[in-house]
Amino acid sequence: MQKIVRKKQLNPEISLIEFEAKDLAIAANPGQFVILRVNETGERFPLTIYDFNCEKGTVTVVCQAIGVSTKKLCALNEGDSILDVVGPLGHATKVKNIGKVICIGGGVGTAEAYPIAKAMQREGNDVEVIIGSRIKDLIICEQEIREFCDKVYVTTDDGSHGRKGFVTDVLRELLQKDTYDMVFAIGPLIMMKMVCEMTKARSIRTLVSLNSIMIDGTGMCGGCRIQYSGEAKFTCVDGPEFDGHLVDFNDVMLRQERYKSKEKSALDHYEKQCRIGLK
Ligand SMILES: Cc1cc2nc3c(=O)[nH]c(=O)nc-3n(C[C@H](O)[C@H](O)[C@H](O)COP(=O)(O)OP(=O)(O)OC[C@H]3O[C@@H](n4cnc5c(N)ncnc54)[C@H](O)[C@@H]3O)c2cc1C
Ligand code: FES
Repeated sequence: MQKIVRKKQLNPEISLIEFEAKDLAIAANPGQFVILRVNETGERFPLTIYDFNCEKGTVTVVCQAIGVSTKKLCALNEGDSILDVVGPLGHATKVKNIGKVICIGGGVGTAEAYPIAKAMQREGNDVEVIIGSRIKDLIICEQEIREFCDKVYVTTDDGSHGRKGFVTDVLRELLQKDTYDMVFAIGPLIMMKMVCEMTKARSIRTLVSLNSIMIDGTGMCGGCRIQYSGEAKFTCVDGPEFDGHLVDFNDVMLRQERYKSKEKSALDHYEKQCRIGLK
C-alpha cells in the first residue's frame, strides 16, 4: 500500500499525486513510468514519474481523469492509499549535453515533458519549452517550467492563454529562425506525428514518449506493440521513448482509435489544421 502524502488539483481534469515509495524514489529516473492499481477491483495502468524525492521517499505522478481507473485514482485524497505501484519501468531518458533542445508538451504530456526538460537544462543544454492545451484552464506546469527555463511558449487552441493555435505553430517559427540539436515531444499521438514531420524535413533528431495502451507492462501481452522502422517493438520494455522518425504513427493511432472512436473527428481536424500550417 502506498500512502498519498500530497494531492493538488491542477485543473478540473488533472491531479498531482505524491505518494510514499522509498525504493521507487531511489531507483527512478526522468522518462520512466510506473504501473498502478488503485484497489482490488481496479485495472493496472501506466503513469509517468513526474518527480521523485529520495530524502522524503516519495514519488509524484500527474494524472488526467479520462476513464475508469484514472478517475478512481484522482478521487483519492491525502491520507488514502494506492493498493500497489510497480516501477520504475521503461528506459530512462539519456540526459546528455547536446546543445540546443526544444521540449514540447501537449495536454497532460506537459507533465511528462517537465522532468525531461528540467534534467536536460540541469545538464547544461539550452532548453526551450513549448506547452499547449485546448483552453487556458487545462494548461499545467507552466510556473514549474518557468522556474528553470526562461524560454517558455504557451499555446491554447482558443487563444484563452498564450498564443492562439497549436504547439506546432510555435515549433515551425522556431525552426525557421534557428537551428536545434534535438526535439522532445510528448502529448497526443497526432501532435507527436506532426512534430516529427516538421523535424524530419530538417533532420533534427526527435524523441517521442508513446502512451500506448498497456496491459501487463512486461513485454508479454503485446498490447503496447508498435511498428518501429519496420520491426515490432513494445512500448513498455523497449520504450516508452523512441526515435520519432522511425515510429509508424498511423499504425499506433489506428490501434489507439479502436478504443476511442469518438475522438477521431477531433484528431482529423487537428491534423488537417496542422497540415494547412505545414504548406
Ligand atoms: C508509458 C505511459 C505513460 C503515461 N503517463 C501518463 C501520465 O503521466 N498521466 C496521464 O494522465 N496519463 C498517462 N498515460 C495514459 C494513461 O495510462 C491512460 O490514460 C490510462 O491507462 C487510462 O485508463 P482508464 O482506466 O482511466 O481509462 P479507460 O477507461 O481504460 O479508457 C478511457 C479512455 O481513455 C483511452 N485510453 C486508455 N488508455 C490510454 C492510453 N494509454 N493513452 C491514451 N488514451 C488511453 C481509452 O481509449 C478511452 O477512450 C500514460 C500511458 C503510458 C503508456
Ligand atoms: S503492456 Fe504488454 S507487452 Fe507491453
